[in-house]
Amino acid sequence: MRVLVHIDDANTWREALAKRLPNAEIVTSEGDSDTPADYLAAWKPPAELLEKQTQLKGIVNLGAGVDALLNNPALPAGVPIVKLRDAGMGPLIADYVRFGVLYFQRGFDRYFAQQIDAHWQEYPLIDKADWPVGVLGLGAIGAHVAKALAADGFPVYGWSRSPKSLEGVTCHHGTDGLSHLLGKVQTLVTLLPNTVSTRGIINADTLSQLPEGASLINPGRGALIDEQALLDALGRDEGNNQPQGRLRGALLDAFTEEPLPDSNPLWLHPRVRITPHMAGPTPVRDAAGQVAELIKAMENGDPIDTVDPKAGY
Ligand code: GLV
Repeated sequence: MRVLVHIDDANTWREALAKRLPNAEIVTSEGDSDTPADYLAAWKPPAELLEKQTQLKGIVNLGAGVDALLNNPALPAGVPIVKLRDAGMGPLIADYVRFGVLYFQRGFDRYFAQQIDAHWQEYPLIDKADWPVGVLGLGAIGAHVAKALAADGFPVYGWSRSPKSLEGVTCHHGTDGLSHLLGKVQTLVTLLPNTVSTRGIINADTLSQLPEGASLINPGRGALIDEQALLDALGRDEGNNQPQGRLRGALLDAFTEEPLPDSNPLWLHPRVRITPHMAGPTPVRDAAGQVAELIKAMENGDPIDTVDPKAGY
């Protein structure tokens, strides 16, 4: 069995997979992307690589989101695709979201803005129990994040396309469920996959349903957010650090265009914090075991949870 690996840092992956699949030949796309492989383990493979690989029995997406792979024009039809489910990303993204929720709940955004003017002013503490957080998307990662926030003491509302139940989390689904959640939360976290039904889900209408002074954290996908609507909801500051829009601030890790172009106004907005898609890098050590198990299962014809290209996740 031949497994072709395509990702930055492919050699680390090759070594990690070789340990777990001792009978397989593991090659990287830098070494040889032409010889037909049985399985492709890849993150954002180029179309030319997929075109050359005509004998694939399965593809493992080396990340949680399959949007880039499904949008690849050379993706072969009918080849089963599996994706990483959590695989160590859940705890990393939960930490990112914790940082963001505390940043707003404890007022770090205000205090750091005050520092620019050497202004000393303390605000009353708002208890975690009075800071409801909404998590859109309850897949493996969203569920992990929702449970982590609930365990930290925040009231957590979750939303997913189909009904779900999670201990300690008030779960909603469907359009009415979304409105219900939006009206309640102080911080909204977006962890939905990028699909035709989620694109632009954070728009003028949904943002207007958030309470005055709410904040947004997006460690998921840029396409979920209508950027202009977000900028409008943030408004501009009039020099006194008091938000003029409904939205208090945003912590953003994912964008429609990455790297985020220099000219994008989000860079300069005083209440937007930007990170370069670093919330949940795939940890090789945790993920390699899952990748090896998925390849073994495909090779043995065992039942596996494959990606549904029509649903987009
Ligand atoms: C990263 O963005 C991933 O989907 O794993």
